[in-house]
Amino acid sequence: MEDRGFQFGDGVYELIRTYHGTVFHLQAHIRRLYESLQQIQIPLAKTPAQLGRIVQSGIERSQYAETKIYIQVTRGAAPRLHSFPKGVLPTLVMTFRELDKIPPKTFKQGVAIISVNDIRWGRCNVKSLNLLPNLLAREHALRSNAFEAIFVRDRFVWEGAGSNLFAVFGKKVVTPPVGPYLLSGITREVVIAIGRKMGLKMSEAKISLDALYRADELFLTGTTVEVLPVIRLNKKTIGSGKPGAVTSLLHKFFQDEVSL
Ligand code: PDD
Repeated sequence: MEDRGFQFGDGVYELIRTYHGTVFHLQAHIRRLYESLQQIQIPLAKTPAQLGRIVQSGIERSQYAETKIYIQVTRGAAPRLHSFPKGVLPTLVMTFRELDKIPPKTFKQGVAIISVNDIRWGRCNVKSLNLLPNLLAREHALRSNAFEAIFVRDRFVWEGAGSNLFAVFGKKVVTPPVGPYLLSGITREVVIAIGRKMGLKMSEAKISLDALYRADELFLTGTTVEVLPVIRLNKKTIGSGKPGAVTSLLHKFFQDEVSL
């Protein structure tokens, strides 16, 4: 009851998944977890290597075809005071559940997204347990028959409630730059690398909401959405209204890479 994750949302987390039983970029996820922990000054006593071993053994024991793993770390349990408690061990929780995949039809058809005002704090690079703005945004999207909500701050788009955003303009693929206003997605990094290998011009730059409507293609990336085409933004059609050629190629190359 007194856990600070429950009382204050005082903690951070990671979502990791497997492909064919192998964890997708485990080291990158663990590195990001430790960066988040450091940002909010939680001293987890475990080493990254120890954490990695717990993840591996959990996957072996759970025996699902594909597993999704949540790692959650809070500052620990202590009487409710805003100040950091002294001599309290952080709480570490990991869950291993069967991964429910997005149906192939969704990837083939593409999804609709909406834009919402970004009411989050100024450190969105921390994968914090405080997800209220993300929850409100996602719920608003679902009630608008959209799959995802995209955060807009000072006219610029940054990312989705649980995904990163890419736009294709001609042969150029653009995604908003890392910094305080987005989480640097592991999938985002992988897709940038795949695009470069394919010879695409991948760049990081701020994109205004106005410019987003003029994109030839849009897509989302993330652990659960992989590379997911977007065909509508705020009820307006993007490009041809079908998943675009560049997105489809990136989706295919991503699938090829994870099936190795
Ligand atoms: N979230 N941006 C936000 C705000 C996210 O919550 C996520 C992932 C991403 C994509 O990051 P990655 O490629 O590392 O999954 C970007 C997961 C899916 C979640 O909260 O469950």
